[in-house]
Amino acid sequence: MPVVAFFDTKPYDRQPMTAAGADKGLSFRFHDFRLSAETAATAAAVPAVCGFVNDRLDRSCLEILAAAGVRHVAMRCAGTNNVDLAAAAELGLVVTRVPAYSPHAVAEHTVALVLTLNRRIHRAFNRVREQNFSLAGLVGFDLYGKTCGIVGTGRIGRVAAEIFRGFGMRVVAHDPVPAAGWAEAHGVDYLPFEDLLGTSDIVSLHLPLTPETHHLLNAETVPQLKPGGMVVNTSRGKLIDTTAVIEALKAGRLGGLAIDVYEEEEGIFFEDLSDRVLQDDELSRLLVFPNVLVTAHQAFLTREALAEIARVTVENVTRLARGEPPLEGTLVA
Ligand code: NAI
Repeated sequence: MPVVAFFDTKPYDRQPMTAAGADKGLSFRFHDFRLSAETAATAAAVPAVCGFVNDRLDRSCLEILAAAGVRHVAMRCAGTNNVDLAAAAELGLVVTRVPAYSPHAVAEHTVALVLTLNRRIHRAFNRVREQNFSLAGLVGFDLYGKTCGIVGTGRIGRVAAEIFRGFGMRVVAHDPVPAAGWAEAHGVDYLPFEDLLGTSDIVSLHLPLTPETHHLLNAETVPQLKPGGMVVNTSRGKLIDTTAVIEALKAGRLGGLAIDVYEEEEGIFFEDLSDRVLQDDELSRLLVFPNVLVTAHQAFLTREALAEIARVTVENVTRLARGEPPLEGTLVA
């Protein structure tokens, strides 16, 4: 019976995976620790491993997996920036991912962050529980008539843009591969990146992390944002240079920051650290700004998305175990 070792799992992953794998003739081994060079040896005699966003599948990790007999790395996420794909190809490892499990889950969380931060719901929630019914400091702005800049109009960016259009916002976008027909149908205008930054009241990031997009918002580009504007990032933490946004927040140039991802989230997000001293000074700083909202990489976390991630992952593991090709569009190396 082919064994699959799942890393960085929590009960909410295990249940849908187990349900999708019922009657498939697979044996699941769930680990709560992350996959890295330090833990890869636990995959001895396992033909397939399943990783997630904060596992570190660098060359040394992949070498240990290949030497241990692993043939298939099934990532249960869309982004594969944490996998050395060139090394995987050299080592003969097949890498698959789940490219589109629910763009709606991520886009809707993006909008939830924007509404929460703009209307100060996070602060109001705490206040009324303390019987503080004052409204001071809770003033937001109408989304209607404002401009939202979508960076990356792939699956998620397009859904987010359509929702923002539903609020009566002007939506502008930037993407090196524009979706011209979609933009025309939805009244979205493509702009050069600098122009998008300067005209958008809200900038929302929906592009992959690559060497070219690393620190897309940095000490040079953050000052190009419209003064008082808001940035929302549900894509990957390293798209933003945290030091640069902290400076802009302290100076009052950046009006708000809502993030579901953080540069150094590995080892922090997904864990309960409530009885520890947080060692990350920049995250600690972000958490005390009244106009910063942080969620811990939960944009994907809907029942529908989890079920689809499980379905595609189990189907690919089953296919590869039988010597068949993976589902169309899921092969990355
Ligand atoms: P996609 O591949 O459908 O679209 C990405 C778009 O970004 C493409 O249109 C591409 O041309 C564009 N792009 C590439 N470089 C760009 C640049 N320099 N400037 C502007 N646009 C650029 O990807 P999808 O499914 O929309 O996902 C987007 C990202 O969302 C993923 O790469 C992943 O990192 C992140 N994500 C986050 C989740 C979460 O739970 N927070 C869950 C799922 C995805």
